[in-house]
Amino acid sequence: MDALHEVTHSANVRLNDEDSTVVIIDQTKLPNELVYLPIDKVEDAYQAIKTLQVRGAPAIGIFAGYCMYIFSKKWKDLSYEEFKKKYEEVGAYLNSSRPTAVNLSWALRRMKKIVEENADIPTILTLLKKEAVAIHEEDIAMCKAISEYGLSLLKPGDGIITHCNTGPLATSRYGTAIGPMLLGNERGLDFRVYADETRPLLQGARLTSYELQRAGVDVTLICDNMASIVMKNGWVDYVFFGCDRIAANGDVANKIGSSGLAIIAKHYGIPVYSLGPSSTIDLNTPTGDDIKIELRDPDEIKTMWYEKPMALPETKCYNPSFDVTDHTLLSGIITEKGIVRPPFDVNLKKMFGDNNDK
Ligand code: MRU
Repeated sequence: MDALHEVTHSANVRLNDEDSTVVIIDQTKLPNELVYLPIDKVEDAYQAIKTLQVRGAPAIGIFAGYCMYIFSKKWKDLSYEEFKKKYEEVGAYLNSSRPTAVNLSWALRRMKKIVEENADIPTILTLLKKEAVAIHEEDIAMCKAISEYGLSLLKPGDGIITHCNTGPLATSRYGTAIGPMLLGNERGLDFRVYADETRPLLQGARLTSYELQRAGVDVTLICDNMASIVMKNGWVDYVFFGCDRIAANGDVANKIGSSGLAIIAKHYGIPVYSLGPSSTIDLNTPTGDDIKIELRDPDEIKTMWYEKPMALPETKCYNPSFDVTDHTLLSGIITEKGIVRPPFDVNLKKMFGDNNDK
């Protein structure tokens, strides 16, 4: 297997052998079924992101990159003007599937630049594939580096509480917030991980505990409202969670419940770190208040996972998919370039000011 083939064929998001479909693991079916889903239609790609068949900020970006490449191949006989128009329409449509994670628009913008800067369609197709693979390869490298920096904080036996899913399924390899424990485990280091189940879509139960269990990491699944007692018991040394968008002042948008976890950790004096790649840092968004929070279907709270509805049909629901953890609650932001410490507004700019193109 050559290096390129290994990248496009080794992860939960990949091209098939003919470059005609993007194959994903349908994350809505885990942990009970491992189903690979080939995507080759625009509407299916939109739905795959919207319904969380593919999810996790970096994985969505990687998926969008590959999708734009395989869709573009179908438009190869159009004139450049028609091709560009089609490309922009489909890109904008995919971009509207989920608003909070910045990686989606970041990856789509990287891909679109190629169409804007070249007018020869065969050249564009070659470059689109190259760029999609680069987005994927860079994520693999970034996750490894993030995992190394996270691991540098830990000592064997430490207890880490985590939220949502930030592992290989959400990224490419290793992941971000659980990457340090997966990497440490490979090196024979033992940690205790507490995985919040992460209501309402249960990414912690269905995906994080699955990934850690499969890897042989000591993982204990808890309901979200048990974090406080687990911390009070003295079982937690660190809170590690991911990020969907990091604002210029260090505010972190991540899965709903992350900010509550950070507030509880502050009470117990436990350090909180958000781990994520530079593709999630958005210096053009000044603060967390400027981040659009996705609202999702009330049925995810009332009926999903249950045999019978757990609330009256007319009961009002508020179902925000993300919240913002105030930067004052964070001890650091762990990136592929190192651990950013407060003051975040100064230090994020210092580290990422030059190459932040969101
Ligand atoms: O709604 P989801 O499951 O896509 O939310 C995912 C998260 O909030 C993750 O923590 C984040 O995307 C980082 S994944 C490395």
